[in-house]
Amino acid sequence: MEVIQIEGGHRVTGEVRVEGAKNSALKLMAATIMAPGVTTLTNVPNIADVHVMGKVLKNIGARIEVVNEHELKIDTSAVDSWETPYHLVAKMRASTAVLGPLLSRFGKAIVAMPGGCNIGARKIDMHILGLEALGVEFKVDHGNIYASAPNGLSGDTVTLSFASVGATENLMMASVFARGTTTIDNAAREPEIVDLANMLNEMGAKIKGAGSPVIEIEGVSELHPVTHEVVGDRIEAGTFLAIGGLVGEPVTVTGFSPAHLGLVLKKYEQIGISIRRDARACTAWRERPLRPTDIQTLPFPGFPTDMQAQTMCLLALAEGSCIITENIFENRFMLASELSRMGADIVIEGHHAIVHGVKRFSGAQVKSPDLRGGAALVMAGLVADGVTTVSAIHHIDRGYEGFVEKLASLGARVSRTTVPDEEDDL
Ligand code: UD1
Repeated sequence: MEVIQIEGGHRVTGEVRVEGAKNSALKLMAATIMAPGVTTLTNVPNIADVHVMGKVLKNIGARIEVVNEHELKIDTSAVDSWETPYHLVAKMRASTAVLGPLLSRFGKAIVAMPGGCNIGARKIDMHILGLEALGVEFKVDHGNIYASAPNGLSGDTVTLSFASVGATENLMMASVFARGTTTIDNAAREPEIVDLANMLNEMGAKIKGAGSPVIEIEGVSELHPVTHEVVGDRIEAGTFLAIGGLVGEPVTVTGFSPAHLGLVLKKYEQIGISIRRDARACTAWRERPLRPTDIQTLPFPGFPTDMQAQTMCLLALAEGSCIITENIFENRFMLASELSRMGADIVIEGHHAIVHGVKRFSGAQVKSPDLRGGAALVMAGLVADGVTTVSAIHHIDRGYEGFVEKLASLGARVSRTTVPDEEDDL
């Protein structure tokens, strides 16, 4: 069993460059289906989720060449299938991002129904309702979603009941070739949605308003391949800034736009972290105790759910009590019980976590509950007494490229190692 081991208490400081955003790269890769030919994506993170999306595309006939680890040349000219099977969707729910592009290119798609996942039910009813409004017919059978638009897609106004990132992206991609104008009302505003709209526009789409709650898409008849750079990963950046704030020494993060972390940086200042913002870099350090600060997750520009676990780790060491409210996913507090094994005092009441600050963490064996929770446990290990061993690190590999190497370059005593899996003996 592969684990990450951290010896706590060492100085962590320096500069780290983040990769392109996972949540953008996956959707940009899916969007290449709509522009037959070779699209080049640069600044693509080398992470497990990108590999899964690569398999999804190869499965329908795309060819992918990897250049210098971070550049993908995706040739979608020979794509001749519109089916994404369960074994791929089960590995990564974001595989459902191909639904919109397949409908755009072929007028039909078969995508396995995603099941629940460890951070909640993650339904796709809004994707389906929105696409139905554009003329798509759905049938669910034997665990698959069969989507078809026998008369083509036609523009309409779709009002989302919640600003869902995935639904906004699928609808935006499905409506690029729809007749007339499509309006997505109450659209999600995440920077990754803006990145996707930018690439689609470079390809010839006519999308206005991405980044605002109303997106308008005027149908066009074709898209052409382009070269596009993936936007920097604000969540990877936020994770390293949280580490600077936790350990106390300056950590400078480059390769992203600090504007994409607006509220996180403001909240971190309230928590007692010093922040210096530059155009494409940001530095975090700390000169005073951590202050308890209430946090609630909300769609962008609110506090991102993907920064909630790392922030829980900070607040668990604050001088007093505060409440974290999780409004996006119903089951995203699994970190709390693992952090409690390290000495944290956190009570979960529904979608609220009541965090009573403690003086220190003590190193322990803990298990990554999910992607961000895993990163937060490694963070906790950096300031814990003794050694922390984090297992189930495949979660971390889904979204962080070279996490251990980057931490080691900042001075952390951290390594990946293999230990016997005690469950094997049962
Ligand atoms: C994306 C991100 C994820 C991030 C999340 C919120 C990717 C690959 N993942 O996930 O990292 O945490 O945005 O910022 O980009 N919902 C429904 N019905 C739907 C769609 C969503 O009920 O049809 C619910 C979900 O169950 C969830 C909430 O809405 O509780 C938010 O989901 P959504 O914004 O769609 O997140 P994802 O696109 O899955």
